[in-house]
Amino acid sequence: MRRETLAFVLLLTVNTQAARPFRGGAVATAHPRATEAALAMLNRGGGATDAAVAAALVLGVAAPYHSGLGGGGFALVHEARSGITEVIDFREVAPKAATRDMYLREGKVAPGLSTDGALSVAVPGAARGYLELLGRKGRLKPAVVMAPAIQAARKGFWVTPKYRTIAQNRLDCLRADPEASRLFLRPGAQGVMEAPAVGELITQPELARTLEELSRRGPSAFYEGRVASAIESTVKEGGGILTSEDLASYRVRWRQPLEGSYRGHRVATMPPPSAGGLAVVQVLGVLERAGARGPSSREPAVLHTYVEAVRRAYVDRARYLGDPAFVEIPLPKLHSAEHISQMLASIDPSRATPSQKLLPAPLAADAGYTPWTDVLPGAKAERKNTTHVSVIDREGNAVALTTTVNYWFGSCLVARGTGVLLNDEMDDFAAAPMTPNTYGLVTGEANAIAPGKIPLSSMSPTLVFRKDDPKKAMLALGSPGGSTIPTTVIQVISNVLDGQMDVVRAVGAGRIHHQYLPDAILVDKFGLEPATLRALEALGHAVTRTDGWGDAEAVLIDPATGLATAGSDPRNEGFASGQD
Ligand code: DON
Repeated sequence: MRRETLAFVLLLTVNTQAARPFRGGAVATAHPRATEAALAMLNRGGGATDAAVAAALVLGVAAPYHSGLGGGGFALVHEARSGITEVIDFREVAPKAATRDMYLREGKVAPGLSTDGALSVAVPGAARGYLELLGRKGRLKPAVVMAPAIQAARKGFWVTPKYRTIAQNRLDCLRADPEASRLFLRPGAQGVMEAPAVGELITQPELARTLEELSRRGPSAFYEGRVASAIESTVKEGGGILTSEDLASYRVRWRQPLEGSYRGHRVATMPPPSAGGLAVVQVLGVLERAGARGPSSREPAVLHTYVEAVRRAYVDRARYLGDPAFVEIPLPKLHSAEHISQMLASIDPSRATPSQKLLPAPLAADAGYTPWTDVLPGAKAERKNTTHVSVIDREGNAVALTTTVNYWFGSCLVARGTGVLLNDEMDDFAAAPMTPNTYGLVTGEANAIAPGKIPLSSMSPTLVFRKDDPKKAMLALGSPGGSTIPTTVIQVISNVLDGQMDVVRAVGAGRIHHQYLPDAILVDKFGLEPATLRALEALGHAVTRTDGWGDAEAVLIDPATGLATAGSDPRNEGFASGQD
């Protein structure tokens, strides 16, 4: 064995921790406080929905750079008793005054307008989403489920290394809003606001009040009255377009999951307005047809098929996907057996297909972005924003919930007096069709901006079911990471079903990503051993190495024993646990 290969294998095998089995429910989230809140709900007789919502609310308080009441998201909810899986879409929508070209100045996308400050804010959906989830699927009272978040906001949480790094990266954006500065930064040596030190306490009394009102009065405490007016006036003063009318008319959507299968297991995932679920179903379909081994095997030929399948899935995304209420998406065709077989048949096993040959588009560099790096000026392309919660309770009810304010700290704008940090989800639209966004991602005409339209997402909360009983959830998973989300989900599924890894190893194993444009494979630090990397280069792939991305959170039920295990991505600060 070559020395570099041996070193790589040692890196993979040293320092891994086996998954601890639980007899009751289990939870994985990106923050220990959120996982504790979820377990507290399970221990009080709550179900998976109560636990997931409690965790999501705490995440919005203790990891405000990822998600919160000012954002939106998606959840898949599976009921063990009925065997029914439903989807709630509480994604943000474009304000009524939004226009197709609102981010163009002299015909060009103006950097920062769709990511920083008031004009980047879409109508938030999280408050209504969480309450409606509880109303339809929860067992505990909202006041009980919201209590841990209220407490975390009031008593505070301490700044982690991740918080500090992210605040440093978003310093200019946060400094531009006095309220965000006051809440999330601290005065430095010269009185200038700086990222707080690790260990400092961040309290959010205004947010505690908003959460408390929400728990008592329901969604109207957010979408009407004091909070709605504060959102409107803060956005208006910043030059934005969101109004209290936009807030009053916001509704969530209940949808049917997108279905696929892998190695005989039923897979339920997020339909449009996510593009992520379709990519998951298509790529798993291609892999299944291609042979018995998946990307977890690390065989160059299998990885080549995987990358080529992903490339084609992202071409379909750019070509067809947008808000289904606004565009005709040929969805049945796109995940049909015939289309998936065609995707496989179009792959040349001996050569990478140049992305530009499949669908010509301007390169990211032409739009002012360097592929994979300086995603925003000065920022590190960590692709870890957004957050995911996975829960399976002791009865087998399962929830996979992904939620976000989009970029780190969203728009960096806090609605005065409310503690509500507003999203910058408008950046998920194609500011100019076929022009890369913050994630270097190219989407097309179908994702052009329109009033009331939902921006296309990559978020892919996913459930995998038992082979012997397609009504029993076996794996709940999801991840942040913008455009990298679907490939993270696909690889964790392959790690579990093909690689037979335990759930901790499955979320921790190295990852490989492609997204059609930029036309390069992204490999994380432990993603590939050097010989495999060279084999892929020999097939014509450009390979870019980078730090890890994503934050996979997964819960797995062992079909043989019924025992639950949970894994939180070791790249981050999350925590997975369960009940005995
Ligand atoms: O919905 C989406 O796809 C994005 N707003 C998610 C953002 C995200 O994951 C950021 N991570 N780097």
